[in-house]
Amino acid sequence: HGTSRINERGHLEIGGCDTVQLAKQFGTPLYVLDEQLIRERCRAYVRAFQQSGVDFQVAYASKALSTMAICRIVDEEGLSLDVVSDGELYTALKAGFPAGRIHFHGNNKTPEELKMALDAKIGCIVVDNSTELKLLRSMATKRSQQVDVLLRLTPGIEAHTHEYIQTGQEDSKFGFSLANGHALQAVETCQRSSYLRLLGFHCHIGSQIFDVRGYQVAMEKIGQFASKCYERYDFTTRVINVGGGFGIRYVEGDRPLSPDAYVSAIVDGLKASFSHQSELPAVWIEPGRSIVGEAGTTLYTVGTEKRIPGIRHYIAVDGGMTDNPRPALYQAKYDAMLANKGNQTNRQVVSVAGKCCESGDMLIWDCALPEVEIGDILAVGATGAYNYSMASNYNRIRKPAVVLVRDGKADVIVKRETLDDIIAHDVIPERLANDIA
Ligand code: LLP
Repeated sequence: HGTSRINERGHLEIGGCDTVQLAKQFGTPLYVLDEQLIRERCRAYVRAFQQSGVDFQVAYASKALSTMAICRIVDEEGLSLDVVSDGELYTALKAGFPAGRIHFHGNNKTPEELKMALDAKIGCIVVDNSTELKLLRSMATKRSQQVDVLLRLTPGIEAHTHEYIQTGQEDSKFGFSLANGHALQAVETCQRSSYLRLLGFHCHIGSQIFDVRGYQVAMEKIGQFASKCYERYDFTTRVINVGGGFGIRYVEGDRPLSPDAYVSAIVDGLKASFSHQSELPAVWIEPGRSIVGEAGTTLYTVGTEKRIPGIRHYIAVDGGMTDNPRPALYQAKYDAMLANKGNQTNRQVVSVAGKCCESGDMLIWDCALPEVEIGDILAVGATGAYNYSMASNYNRIRKPAVVLVRDGKADVIVKRETLDDIIAHDVIPERLANDIA
């Protein structure tokens, strides 16, 4: 992936940095991020849209990986930012991300979160349901503040990696139903309010998608709905947001499409579905995984092993489901290599265990590697998305550091947690504190 290569010492190098050196300098587990690759991914989406000629915004879905340094990179690349909580919004604002390019998502935004968004005058709120719509209307009215909104719709499509399913059914916790009139009512509510400015519609059909059909069918359905709104309310749709979900390569055999392929299919879908308007709406997308996923590599130290003759050879690393919960949560597959033995051929098949007290804490089953010795540095690829952002302190394990590499330079962008961080929020009530030395 990206700027990775095997250097003269036979070590894995990323962004011009020897990963064995990084492991020594910063300790393990360690998340390593390839800055160049993140920037290339941002640019690939922007370029694809520029070539298509339609108006667009590419909003990075920061749930995939939100840190202040990442917000800086995404801002420098001219992208917008999708946030889903006060924490993600706070991170973006503190990093100096322009509020006007921030979009706020979520199916249960609290009144405090909405106030924070209104105070900051963020670009757009993606309204998910009628409770939120009414609350936002009354807040905006009280403040006499105009607010740009998109309505999130449930198009009744589910996409999974290789196939998409038209569920027809709209059993989802997200969004306004197209089938039962709720979406139309929401449009009417916006039209009647002088403070809610409805820009258009949003939908998100799934994640790690390797096919364009789902996006096109979603576009069709939203186009039909938009044309109904046009006839009924004289409403011109200015923005269509088709969400994220563009696939990446985790293991050999994964064949994601290029940003170009996804974008041109979406733009074709737009043109086919909005012939009722004289001017095409702008297209917004929200890639998360495909911006940062392949740019991340996690380095671990192999600490113990266990051979059960004829059954399995386990090796255990110093991290696991606390820094990467995806295998345990989703049976997600990953590839690994020995960073200090990049030149050696694979000789054995091992299973990589994490260090949590839980049998399900397995990072990789049956992974081909060179001969493994205790102290080797194991590098697991494609860990940039939904790893650090979903990390936990289970077993009171400290979260690793995140290091950004580029042109031979390595900068810590998230510090490793300390043991004192682990107890930082603990409080011992007075009556239990007597015997502490
Ligand atoms: N927009 C919306 C409204 C979303 O809900 C999501 C992801 C995205 C954009 C970004 O999707 P992406 O391009 O990253 O696929 N934790 C799971 C993934 C959950 C995705 C949730 N929503 C995982 O680790 O696979």
